[in-house]
Amino acid sequence: MTAPTILCVAGSPRRHGNSELLLDSCVRGIEEAGGIADRLEVVEYDITPCQGCNACSLTEECVISDRMREIYPRIDAADAIVISSPVYFATVPAVLKALYDRCQPYWARQHVLNQPAPARRPGALLLVRGAGDPYGFEAAVLTTKSVFAVLGIDLVDTIEVEGVDSPSELGRHPDSIARAEELGSTLVGRTLEYRR
Ligand SMILES: Cc1cc2nc3c(=O)[nH]c(=O)nc-3n(C[C@H](O)[C@H](O)[C@H](O)COP(=O)(O)O)c2cc1C
Repeated sequence: MTAPTILCVAGSPRRHGNSELLLDSCVRGIEEAGGIADRLEVVEYDITPCQGCNACSLTEECVISDRMREIYPRIDAADAIVISSPVYFATVPAVLKALYDRCQPYWARQHVLNQPAPARRPGALLLVRGAGDPYGFEAAVLTTKSVFAVLGIDLVDTIEVEGVDSPSELGRHPDSIARAEELGSTLVGRTLEYRR
């Protein structure tokens, strides 16, 4: 049996920050459990926002020619997906939201072109935020669930870390770091269950 591939998306515009450190821990768990972690740092891909042209409702494909074209096959090939992200104004940062919006072809295929939904896969969400904003994690979770729905992903677990701003602050949350590692290995096991 081939090792499961888990697409591990770092959604912050800031490299090596709190959410990416949480993802690093999850990647360790994936690799320790024998999975393959396909890391994708969205900020490096310069993803153009969806322009709402609805061409994908006719042709199934996005007309924008950018590096998202490298990402679609990686989304399709993944046995599971983990998203890590900071909360920005209650939801996910623009660099990650651009990737989410460019998933519109998956929506169009199912809801306009009546194609079958993709096979179910497990997924997880790792969120960090500062403090002081009253809106918490909810909008970021719902936004991600909306994208997971069109990708056929069941959200099996979410880790939320509050009160971190400067990158080193995640170190004050060893329990969350350990949980992210555990989640990585759990996800590998879950992908095998979904294959049955
Ligand atoms: C533009 C911007 C908007 C933010 N909005 C929020 C927010 O709405 N709620 C919150 O709790 N923290 C907010 N933060 C704080 C970040 O979530 C926090 O600094 C986080 O640790 C950054 O994660 P990273 O190190 O992975 O980039 C915001 C930060 C920035 C730069």
